[in-house]
Amino acid sequence: MSNSYSFIVFQLLVIAVLSRAIYRRFFHPLHIYPGPFLASITNVWKVYRYLQGRLQVVEQDLHQQYGPIVRTGPNSLSFSTPEAFESIYGFNHGFEKGDFYAFARDKVNGTSNIFSARTHAEHRDRRRKVVGAALNTSHVHSYNPIVAKHVQQFLSNLSIISADAKDNVLNIAEPIHAFTFNTLAELVYGPSLSITKQPWSGTANGEGILTAFRAMSKYVWGASHIPSLSWIFSTGPVLRLTRKPTFNAAGIATGLGALAGRARLLLLEDSNLVTGVDQPSIAKSMLVIDKGDSRYMEPAEAFKECFNLMFAGPGSTAAALTGVLERLGSQDGLAWQEMIRNELKQVNEASESKVLDAVVRESMRYSTPFPSAFPREIQSGAEMAIAGVETPLPIGTVVASNSWIVSHDKGVWGTDAGLWKPERWLDVKGDAGKKSLEDKFVVFSKGPRGCIGRDIAMLIVTQAVAAIVSRWRIETIGEMKSGAWLEMQVEWCGMKFTKL
Ligand code: HEM
Repeated sequence: MSNSYSFIVFQLLVIAVLSRAIYRRFFHPLHIYPGPFLASITNVWKVYRYLQGRLQVVEQDLHQQYGPIVRTGPNSLSFSTPEAFESIYGFNHGFEKGDFYAFARDKVNGTSNIFSARTHAEHRDRRRKVVGAALNTSHVHSYNPIVAKHVQQFLSNLSIISADAKDNVLNIAEPIHAFTFNTLAELVYGPSLSITKQPWSGTANGEGILTAFRAMSKYVWGASHIPSLSWIFSTGPVLRLTRKPTFNAAGIATGLGALAGRARLLLLEDSNLVTGVDQPSIAKSMLVIDKGDSRYMEPAEAFKECFNLMFAGPGSTAAALTGVLERLGSQDGLAWQEMIRNELKQVNEASESKVLDAVVRESMRYSTPFPSAFPREIQSGAEMAIAGVETPLPIGTVVASNSWIVSHDKGVWGTDAGLWKPERWLDVKGDAGKKSLEDKFVVFSKGPRGCIGRDIAMLIVTQAVAAIVSRWRIETIGEMKSGAWLEMQVEWCGMKFTKL
């Protein structure tokens, strides 16, 4: 009896799954768009491709095969033209960050941080508070000496480890991630974060922190491609499991839990550790805002925004810096190292070197630190708003355009789009030429949801590259090994350092 009951349930389940697949493939409003068969019936296709670490290349191939609009999920479309990129991420308010970003929203009361805010009104408020309080131009300028200090520590570290490296070949991926993480950690939380004088990742508490952030961005972003999986990740038991504190052999807290615990102490329990020091920090700039000011945040809000910056900044900046050094160390890059050295002798600050700026931008375009398509949901009024769309898209359709694809588009960058050529940034004529290049540069995204950490990232990358090429002749050894998860995560980038 119970066997036949199970069989009926099983049959009903099979019928339900098949009906859903048939509906999605042949009757869903998006069925008119071409794409892989599996992608049209299940999001598992995308997660599988994402986990292989080359989704951006797969999507580029699909656009070559099917054209500028491809169905990459039952309810999602990918767009490849720069015009479509502009429509989705520009100033049209008909696109919102939908359920995909639920992983970064509070599970109990639904509140967001600047990155995950859903509506434009909610986001405007967060942007005023975060950028207005702590990340405008004068704040960023005041962070300069802290970056310079970390660059010096990074150089000392590189000197020591490159001398010990087997065959003089050093894998720079991990030291770079530690450098960008520690720099941003001090910029965000100030000097009291670390109890010792050591940068955070070098302390006992910092053990495992880089791996933990890499795993978090990889799996949390991946799971968001499947709404039901994302929901399971936000349930109590799974949250308890993923947030389980970790300890080293001496019983000292490590990993994400240790960082969150220390940040909680600084922002929520003993804020004098942040506001009572002279050194500027993002947390301090947030906490000193008066209650009557429209930029004021409750300490709990500031805590969340600060932690979000640690999620958004270090991995992407590490990918960017590794990408620049890998190119500069290649055969094509050797002459550019020399040109940077020459120009640095003639300017006061690294940021004034046009050659360095061209190399950094071109390397970011070429390697694209976030080779991801950031999803948006169509809202009422935007059904026809994307360039190239001829039939109204249903409200709730998930649309995205991958900045890696636009950054490698031959129609935009020319037939040499696949080549690393910093001269394309130097050969521009006049303000119009510069503006047109800037318009094409989508690495930090565009419009109201574009990156708020761009100036800080450029500061860190530029200072570090200037310091490295001034001290060493660098040479890339072998192929870089990396995976495009949310950000480009580099596992191996071999490099030789020869003292000048
Ligand atoms: C080279 C390094 C970086 C790259 C390539 C980069 C790129 C991006 C991109 C493409 C977005 C848009 C994401 C989306 O649409 O969901 C973004 C947003 C954001 N980035 Fe960055 N980023 C970098 C560094 C940083 C740093 C250092 C910080 C923090 C100090 C930061 C903080 C943020 C935040 C908070 C947002 C959300 C902004 C908003 O929605 O208003 N990023 N970034």
